[in-house]
Amino acid sequence: MQLVPVICVDGPSGAGKGSLARRLADRLGFHLLDSGALYRVVGHVASERGVAWDDELGLEAIAASLDVTFEPIDDGVGVFHEGTDVSIPIRSVRGGEGASAVAVFPKVRQALLARQRELAVAPGLIADGRDMGSVVFPEADLKLFLEASAQARALRRQLQLQAQGDSVSLPRLLEAIEARDAKDRARSASPLRPAEDAVVIDSTELSASQVFDRAMALITSRGIV
Ligand code: C5P
Repeated sequence: MQLVPVICVDGPSGAGKGSLARRLADRLGFHLLDSGALYRVVGHVASERGVAWDDELGLEAIAASLDVTFEPIDDGVGVFHEGTDVSIPIRSVRGGEGASAVAVFPKVRQALLARQRELAVAPGLIADGRDMGSVVFPEADLKLFLEASAQARALRRQLQLQAQGDSVSLPRLLEAIEARDAKDRARSASPLRPAEDAVVIDSTELSASQVFDRAMALITSRGIV
């Protein structure tokens, strides 16, 4: 049973979920769950410890005892594993590949489930991911599913990576994004797809502010806050 308001922001990578989720959390004063970061850290720790990305039991052990914290840093929120800032490696292209590789395993997903649900505490939660509305918070008050063309998403991702001093060519990013999407949509455990009661927003032609305004209008009209 979910006792506090939960708003889910799901969709493929680069559709603008992260920035929308952050803005909503700031505006409403809610907690923020960046579920992708959990999968990214599992993939990263596996690499560090020599656990293969297809070793389901080894990955499950990592996920079950994951010591991750999210802490404010200069320009946003840093992701720390056992006290070490892993924000940069987990956000790299390889970090995304690792996340999507480990995320196919039901045991890994199950090991992260309770940890995600624990974050639904007062005054409320904005949950950013792929299966927030379909699996993790089926009773959420609002389920948003952001879409955007692969080209638009690759371009946004390139700008994000450039901002952190990483230059990756657009064709390579497009290829990585399409490969990751295909994997996320095709997997049998919690595939990427909108929950039946999700509101789908195509952000290809919309600015971040326009998407935010639409989300706030839905939140207000549903009386969530
Ligand atoms: O959202 P982000 O790009 O950080 O997610 C990285 C990868 O983690 C996704 O491509 C997906 O494979 C996986 N993921 C997932 N379920 C979530 C969040 C992320 O499977 N709720």
